[in-house]
Amino acid sequence: MAIVRLKALGREWVHEVSLGVSLLEAAEECGAPEGSACGGVCGCSTCHVYVMQGAELLSPAEENEEDIMDKAFDVRMSSRLGCQARVVKEGEVVVEITRESLDAFYNEHPDEIDPREAGSTA
Ligand code: FES
Repeated sequence: MAIVRLKALGREWVHEVSLGVSLLEAAEECGAPEGSACGGVCGCSTCHVYVMQGAELLSPAEENEEDIMDKAFDVRMSSRLGCQARVVKEGEVVVEITRESLDAFYNEHPDEIDPREAGSTA
């Protein structure tokens, strides 16, 4: 087992996962707001996250992930696609959900209140 901590919007979601689970699957299981416009098939970049800790516990990025990452916004050394990065070793992985991914999540889930917009119409 491993622990995945997902950070966004000043909050943190902590989830215990079995080895082989992707960061996106971990986010979906614990209700963290990570986008997944293509359904997790490496066809978009809306599951873009920054890996703050535990990158060595993840499956390495393959060529198709790197190709998609070329189209993502604000790509950093720590960038991964959540649907492609799988936890393959025990330990703790800490990720920050990118703004790109948050935007996609709230577009995909109009019933969810985007805390960044809450109160902005007052
Ligand atoms: S959900 Fe589309 S690339 Fe990950």
